[in-house]
Amino acid sequence: MPEWFDVGSRAELEAKGRRVVKAGGKQILLIADGERLFACNNRCPHEGYPLSEGTLGAACTLTCNWHNWKFDLASGETLVGGDRLRQYPVEVREGRLWIDIADPPAEARQARALENLEEASDDNDYERMAREVARFVKAGGDPFEPIRRMVVRSAARFEYGMTHAYAAAPDWLALHKAAASDEQKLTALVEPIAHIAWDTLREDEYPYSAAASPWDDAAFARAMESEDDGAAIAFVNGALSAGSEALAPLKRAFARAALAHYQDFGHSAIYARKAFELIDVLGASVAAPVLHTLTRSIIYASREDRIPEFRHYAKALSAWSPAGKPCSAAELVGLSVNAALDRVAALPGGNEAKYRLLLEANALAMLRFDTAVDLHTSKPISHNVRWLDFTHALTFGNAVREHCAGQPELWPQALLQLACFLGRNAPYLVREADWSWEVPDAARFFARERAALYDHGIREPIFACHRVKVLAAVAEEVAWAGEGQLSTTVLAATNRYLNSPIKGHHALRAAHQALSFVEAEG
Ligand code: FES
Repeated sequence: MPEWFDVGSRAELEAKGRRVVKAGGKQILLIADGERLFACNNRCPHEGYPLSEGTLGAACTLTCNWHNWKFDLASGETLVGGDRLRQYPVEVREGRLWIDIADPPAEARQARALENLEEASDDNDYERMAREVARFVKAGGDPFEPIRRMVVRSAARFEYGMTHAYAAAPDWLALHKAAASDEQKLTALVEPIAHIAWDTLREDEYPYSAAASPWDDAAFARAMESEDDGAAIAFVNGALSAGSEALAPLKRAFARAALAHYQDFGHSAIYARKAFELIDVLGASVAAPVLHTLTRSIIYASREDRIPEFRHYAKALSAWSPAGKPCSAAELVGLSVNAALDRVAALPGGNEAKYRLLLEANALAMLRFDTAVDLHTSKPISHNVRWLDFTHALTFGNAVREHCAGQPELWPQALLQLACFLGRNAPYLVREADWSWEVPDAARFFARERAALYDHGIREPIFACHRVKVLAAVAEEVAWAGEGQLSTTVLAATNRYLNSPIKGHHALRAAHQALSFVEAEG
């Protein structure tokens, strides 16, 4: 329905050239350019400065002098800058100016916001992404729709498949539900969107196969093992054509593929869990794009069990024989990869008890992490160890506990891979755990750290999203483990990680390693 307002006489506007009026709670700029009359929002769509202070140039071009965005008032187009300037229809009735301030239909505003969101993400323009999501929600749209749109649009741009941008999205969306203010809600929506934009910035499309093969569990596993992207995707397509009942067998198959090797530093198992969580939250429309990226990420994952450092993994797995001596978590910390694998392969008892032990040991290692290691500037690249090398044991643990609940036969792989984390980090420990990080009140700790996530202050999404993912994983593990030493250790370790400084860039180290590498190359 139109909403016409009388905003004064035409003669007065023509005499002054421009006027700002208020109508229906909006601040509107009226401009007379010769015979031509225009009405537009007085707030620049960039940062809201008044366009009444702008410069009217030739051919009805209005320039906002704050940052030089330019708007063609005649066509309504934005010539320089991002957002479109809202204009209003103008009519002259008996010498009076009338403007129609009725908003376009909600569907049209939502569609426009989503289109603009795509443009903003292509420009990696965080503030504009925030504005477009806010506009979409203000127009009554489902708050999760922008991220659905971004997932569907971005999937083929991930050359090597899924990244943490998708994996952290379910945790951000959980934070959206838990948010205490509109600002926190919007933050939790924009952060995963901006992460997707960051990870796919200036990427071409690497299309996925559209072929569909009837689901075949064993053949899918072979395609994944032989790194046959096209065949594996075709099986996924075939399974999805059966509808949502395909998700359960797909989830089991992906968990097996993710744990078939100690690979990608645990990311495959983490992604194999988070992909299905994301589908659960966002719905069937994202199933294909998310699972396509998951397939590709597992196929491209580096299989660390094939490098000398972890080659003993296969032997330990085949020697799996839980007939050795029990041990404490502290006894596992500091063992080499091979020693940790042998010890875990022989541990007696149930698998969940062993999982508790390994999770506690990995958390204990976080309390013994020699953080000075992360600051070195003159060691070889193999010593580039940082907090995330430790925290992945927690997020990996959280993921594999769920995988193994559905498929207990995967426990040996899961537990031995947790041992790999322990052994891999063993050279970077100090002698004593730093118990000053002990958390006296878990509920207050989670409340404080969750609140901090909405304003993490970290530029690179990869660092910020890990804080979100670790806290979400730890909350689940602590709830599962209950009160006791395991939860105490995991909470203290997480506290230390979240509240230790992060060195986000290693310029001197990179230079040192580049010079060493170039010096030694042929
Ligand atoms: S506020 Fe107008 S260009 Fe920035």
